[in-house]
Amino acid sequence: MCGIVGYMGGQDAYPILVRGLHRLEYRGYDSAGVSLINQAGNLNVYKATGKVDALEEKCREADTTGTIGIAHTRWATHGEPNTVNAHPHLSQSGNLSLVHNGIIENYKTLRAMLEGKGYSFCSDTDTEVLVQLIDYTQATSRCDLFTAVQRALKSVVGAYAIALLERSHPDRLVCARKGSPLVIGVGTDARGNKEFFLGSDATPIVEYTNQVVYLKDEEIACMDRSGQLDIVNMDDVHQTPEMITLQMSLDELEKGGYPHFMLKEIWEQPAALRTCIKGRLHPASKDVVLSGIIDHKDKFVKARRIIICACGTSWHSALIGKYFIEEAAQVPVEVEYASEFRYRNPVIYPDDVVVAVSQSGETADTLAAIQLAERKGAFLYGICNVIGSSIARATHSGTYLHVGPEIGVASTKAFTGQVITLCLLGLAIAKEKHTLSDEMFHMLVDELYQIPDKMQWTLENNKDIDKFAQMFTYCRNFIFLGRGYNYPVALEGALKLKEISYIHAEGYPAAEMKHGPIALVDEEMPVVFIAPRRGMYDKVVSNIQEIKSRKGKIISVVTEGDTTVAGMSDHTFVIPDTRDCFVPLLAAIPLQLLAYYVATAKGRNVDQPRNLAKSVTVE
Ligand code: G6P
Repeated sequence: MCGIVGYMGGQDAYPILVRGLHRLEYRGYDSAGVSLINQAGNLNVYKATGKVDALEEKCREADTTGTIGIAHTRWATHGEPNTVNAHPHLSQSGNLSLVHNGIIENYKTLRAMLEGKGYSFCSDTDTEVLVQLIDYTQATSRCDLFTAVQRALKSVVGAYAIALLERSHPDRLVCARKGSPLVIGVGTDARGNKEFFLGSDATPIVEYTNQVVYLKDEEIACMDRSGQLDIVNMDDVHQTPEMITLQMSLDELEKGGYPHFMLKEIWEQPAALRTCIKGRLHPASKDVVLSGIIDHKDKFVKARRIIICACGTSWHSALIGKYFIEEAAQVPVEVEYASEFRYRNPVIYPDDVVVAVSQSGETADTLAAIQLAERKGAFLYGICNVIGSSIARATHSGTYLHVGPEIGVASTKAFTGQVITLCLLGLAIAKEKHTLSDEMFHMLVDELYQIPDKMQWTLENNKDIDKFAQMFTYCRNFIFLGRGYNYPVALEGALKLKEISYIHAEGYPAAEMKHGPIALVDEEMPVVFIAPRRGMYDKVVSNIQEIKSRKGKIISVVTEGDTTVAGMSDHTFVIPDTRDCFVPLLAAIPLQLLAYYVATAKGRNVDQPRNLAKSVTVE
């Protein structure tokens, strides 16, 4: 979703801002803008619809000088994606320029109030209301910008990360956050002076400095050219900036020779999952150690129920987690769409454990769901990839995926990272509850440890997917079917394909096909079966027969050496044999590759599919 970049220091701001916007492109957006204060004290604003390249094109002949500036990529919420609605927005006085991520819920009331005071508006956005409100507060309270932001935000309902420039004070940058992340980078310029960077995540900052401060909710920060960083909360109490050293490396943000981040991230999965299980899964001692549950064993052992809240791909990994945790740890697990859960009045017992699964750790619905659960007394556990993210901070304990930054909008390595982490969680609880025999526990530990190698094998033995995928560019529909552990894989396979190729695809439990989707099957319909030799193999074989007799095109994911399903299929992808419960970690790979190659054959922008956002920070 929307992205923010800011800079103040000794360097030209424009190249840093534009580079930062490119780094944030992965979040998804439909317009972009930049604003700078030049040497003469002019506040220049440039905006363009479409990609950051279009903004650069527009700025080619423009005055983009200045050592202080803010920039933004906008994912439209209020008002269509055009240059008027794009950020930065200017105050009526022309003195302030503001960029904003999030949604101001009471913007209509505020707008009416400001109109009554003589303010007029040129855009449809909630953001313009914010900049006028701050301008109005500053004018009526005769205070500095830092104080005006603080006072104005008291009457704002909603979520925001904002950054502001003030034409009359080109020596300071002000920003604030509530419910939407903001990171301040502190570096040193060529003259040895402090310089400040701003990002809605750390990706625009990491190439300049690894020293960052994550602004906390309801904090307002003011950076000035003397190197001073002041942070206050809404009650005007000064906060000590908590400097953190970023662990992210620049290589992780580059394509590294791959044509797309998505393909790179698919191929990274074996290494990423090795990192994820490192120090957690111990094949020699046949042990699983999850530091996140060590101090909270009781909560998990006594849990009457586990509720997992998630959205999108994370919801699919949660469903696989449910199957595994129930089987291994013998505790009921419910998987909830966070967006539904938060607006019900769910029954939550004090001995429930609520787990949030979120790659970004910023998904607004997931965050709201766990906040609700906390109010009802549940213990909260977070499974996130982004270190220091809002959900990671809002939970009582948790486990990071450690799969490295995921840039492609369609989640791949984070998905398998979440699945393996949920398997670790299931094993760790099972160990405490003694719900598995030693023999079974050891076998599962050994098998899980081999999964990254088996993923590598899967990647290397399905290299023809690119040629095969080209045959499907004409398709308008796909069906994905699986049973048991592979039902969520079918859902995820369908989601991957529709997200990036824009081909309609549905995932179903294979047996449910008879209750509707089978009506769609004809010789034009590709049906993808996840049909490993384990589990309900014979039943899936029967389901394949049913599709075949209706002339559907069968694509199957089969265990290496399988001839039965392979013989019935128009095309097969192979995976190595593994325990039923771990098949999703392997079967997901050919489906990711299928989606990728169908989408690229159709000329789609796989890393930034239309309308989608990587981090959904609004509900
Ligand atoms: C967006 C992304 C998906 C992701 C979902 C949940 O829709 O495009 O890839 O699965 O949000 O995101 P989260 O960060 O909470 O896992």
